[in-house]
Amino acid sequence: MNTQHNYLDVLQLDRGRRVPLHRQIYERMRSAIEQRMLQPGDRVASARALASELGVARSTVEAAYQQLTGEGYLVARGQAGTVVSAHLPPPVSHAVGPRTVDRRSRKHSSASPNALPQGTAPPPFQLGTPALDAFPRKLWTRLAARRLRMTSTADMFYGDPCGYGPLRQAIATYLLVSRGIACRPEQVFVTAGYRASLAFVVRTLLKPGERVWTEYPCYPPTRDVLEHAGNRPVAVPVDSEGMLVAHGIRHAPKARMAVVTPSHQAPLGVSLTLPRRLQLLDWASRTNAWIVEDDYDGEYRYSGAPLPALKSLDAHDRVIYAGSFSKTLYPGLALGYLVVPERLIDTCNEAARTWSNGCPQITQATVADFMSVGHFSRHLKKMRLLYARRRAMLVAGLAAAFGEKVRVDLTSGGMHLIARFTSRTGDRELARRAQQAGLNAQPLSGRYAARHSHSDKGLLLGFTNIASAEEAMRLCMRLRDALKG
Ligand SMILES: Cc1ncc(COP(=O)(O)O)c(C=O)c1O
Repeated sequence: MNTQHNYLDVLQLDRGRRVPLHRQIYERMRSAIEQRMLQPGDRVASARALASELGVARSTVEAAYQQLTGEGYLVARGQAGTVVSAHLPPPVSHAVGPRTVDRRSRKHSSASPNALPQGTAPPPFQLGTPALDAFPRKLWTRLAARRLRMTSTADMFYGDPCGYGPLRQAIATYLLVSRGIACRPEQVFVTAGYRASLAFVVRTLLKPGERVWTEYPCYPPTRDVLEHAGNRPVAVPVDSEGMLVAHGIRHAPKARMAVVTPSHQAPLGVSLTLPRRLQLLDWASRTNAWIVEDDYDGEYRYSGAPLPALKSLDAHDRVIYAGSFSKTLYPGLALGYLVVPERLIDTCNEAARTWSNGCPQITQATVADFMSVGHFSRHLKKMRLLYARRRAMLVAGLAAAFGEKVRVDLTSGGMHLIARFTSRTGDRELARRAQQAGLNAQPLSGRYAARHSHSDKGLLLGFTNIASAEEAMRLCMRLRDALKG
């Protein structure tokens, strides 16, 4: 049966991981059930057959089956074999949040990691995920525990909806030193991540129906948030110098806002050049439009120092800067921030009081501690070196596995690379094959809005969680086998 064949592909084990094999089988099979690759009532392979297929001991598969049966995913029917339970929880959603659960968001293969089944690590090549193995967990636990112990009765009341004061201060200090942005803590608004930031800005500053320039290609949640709010994204092409500002001016001069990723365009990786930056700022100041600068991974640049943010050039106060801790700490924190122009402080204070930011005070306090005593800068410095090494390992692995059949776009920074294959098969099909083999490659063409015809092709591959040169090599060989179809 077709689904059985697919789930066997997904069950390929990663012997380099420290996770025991029975646990890997359990996690992957559970995920196959949750994603309905295996349907209620489907019979799964016998423990003996699966053990032989995977080259593991039968007891290893039995241990995984026992756990899945105990949790109600599988039902043992004696002689009739083991089947997927008829009483499953609803399928795991691939949407990113309650406001984006609609068909529009599903048509994109979103860069934002979809919620993974409980206990499942992000799959190889996952985009936009910092090195989870290199996060200083001991230190973090110590700081968080200290914060918990220190909780006073005052801390148990509602926090400031604009953000925890010391965190706003720490962010302002950090931005001045690292991103060249001079701002007061009052301009900093803590949010539950980039999408929450963009939704906050759009709700506060735009009227439904107003037009917004977005990059083409772009980070799909940007369009999703805008469309969900009833605004009209205008796709502005990106070339080797970043967004083609002249195109935006020609086709939608009266747009109310532009959303850009100037440091490292998502997903092409190019930087917005200085002339384009100045042209964009000039358009915004002439037309009173707003610019949202999504600086999601500006810290990660591997040749030369990180580029200053666009906001640092904002003489006319038109730029709203959006930062996120998803790439610098970890996405599960669900923490981001905005830096708004002085003139928007009152408006944003009022909006924040209306909606609240939903960010737990204890998390904000822990991040503030982490930043204010220098751990944050040290961590970023380490990650920059680590990611440069991991990227080189992936490049070497791709060269060994594919030779002349691949060309790699190496830009100055970022957390993923673009691999362009000579194969005539489309990148969506290549990505589908890779995903079936448990490798989360994403098609570049998926980042182009559907109603436009031109799109560039390639596979987006995250490298930040590749722990060694051997692992890179193994993964690239797996990718090569998977892409053959
Ligand atoms: C272009 C872009 N912007 C922002 C983010 C951060 O989003 P969030 O803070 O919602 O995790 C990401 C994460 O993948 C991204 O790729």
